[in-house]
Amino acid sequence: MSTRNVVVTDAVRCVDCGFCREVNVCRSQGECSGCLSCYYACPYEAKKIIEVVRPLKYVTIKIDGVEHAVPSGITLKEALRLSGLVFSEPWKKGITAPCGVGGCWACAVIVDGALERACITPVKDGMEVELDVEKVEPLRIVHGPEPHPVGGKATPWWEVGRAPYVEAAVWTAGCNLRCPQCQNWRITYDNSSAAVSPSEAARLLVACGKLYGTKGLAISGGEPTLNRRWLVGFFKELKRLGSGFRLHLDSNGTVLTPDYVDELVESGCNNIGIEPKAGRLETYMRITGLKDEELAREYFDRSWSAVKYISERYSGTVYLGVGIAYNAAWMGFEELAEIGDRIASIDPKIQVTVLDYFPSFRRRDIKRPSYKEMLCVKETLEGAGLRTVIVQTSVGHVGPGQPR
Ligand code: FES
Repeated sequence: MSTRNVVVTDAVRCVDCGFCREVNVCRSQGECSGCLSCYYACPYEAKKIIEVVRPLKYVTIKIDGVEHAVPSGITLKEALRLSGLVFSEPWKKGITAPCGVGGCWACAVIVDGALERACITPVKDGMEVELDVEKVEPLRIVHGPEPHPVGGKATPWWEVGRAPYVEAAVWTAGCNLRCPQCQNWRITYDNSSAAVSPSEAARLLVACGKLYGTKGLAISGGEPTLNRRWLVGFFKELKRLGSGFRLHLDSNGTVLTPDYVDELVESGCNNIGIEPKAGRLETYMRITGLKDEELAREYFDRSWSAVKYISERYSGTVYLGVGIAYNAAWMGFEELAEIGDRIASIDPKIQVTVLDYFPSFRRRDIKRPSYKEMLCVKETLEGAGLRTVIVQTSVGHVGPGQPR
């Protein structure tokens, strides 16, 4: 017998919203493999982890032609791990598993001849797995493209409002954070839409940009940086097809190491938005839902380091924007002033966009900041010496020098 963690539905909390039937869909067909995808994705937190005792049975799979006996009823990711595969850190090249919910496809390996996600696929007897994924095009779940009137954190503020749409954008599924108030959760936790190659996503995005006459082409999420090979291929293809467009990446910055930034810039990305979200680690943990302090510190520090690195290394070639996640539920004006000082010490001209986080996903209790409150946020950051502050408000964005 063996003890295992599985996920069950808490009938008291479940409101039958259908999200786990239609968007974040279980692939274990009745026998939970313990992947935890539905546990992370349920907007009503109606999934709970329980321990069960099951008879210990084994199945045989082949990994690169070599047979391995692994316990039945587990995920392919766990089977690969038990067979000796070490998943890379999410910021490195190679097979990683950063989202764990089936959205990013960074954990994909070749299963019986086709690319499939190890994190949510249950292991099966006779499965043939190949680890050399470089021989096939990477895949990823992507929503859009759609034209956007305002853009993201790093959309140059002076371009907004000059035409009906400033950017055409796509949004990727999968994120390495678990923000309880995720503002884009229906996409972030999607594991059921068809995945596309970088070239297909780029082709559609360029067509959308041309159709609506936008200045920029953007990718946001979820977290676009999680599947490095996919994202680099996507920018290379945008550069090839979308000459003349500004190429914009909107990221949480948590996996953007200097070498990853360099690779993206070489591939054509010339407009990067980073969202370190907060100025203090404890606030960052509250916003992101990260419980592991060491991991939270690593992500938080890397986001801020990415801001500094891009500002210093690519000043004049990459237009940089910084995103801050504001709501009085987790941040006060003292911290905002600290954030202002921190950015001003890097470069007071950096564009800073403060997002007025509204009730969403698992935090339906928070109140959207008022228009007046967001103007105070803007004043506080400008008081620290920042010259390009934009605040998102319930009635539209207010930018530098704009009437209030
Ligand atoms: S880690 Fe498996 S799809 Fe993201």
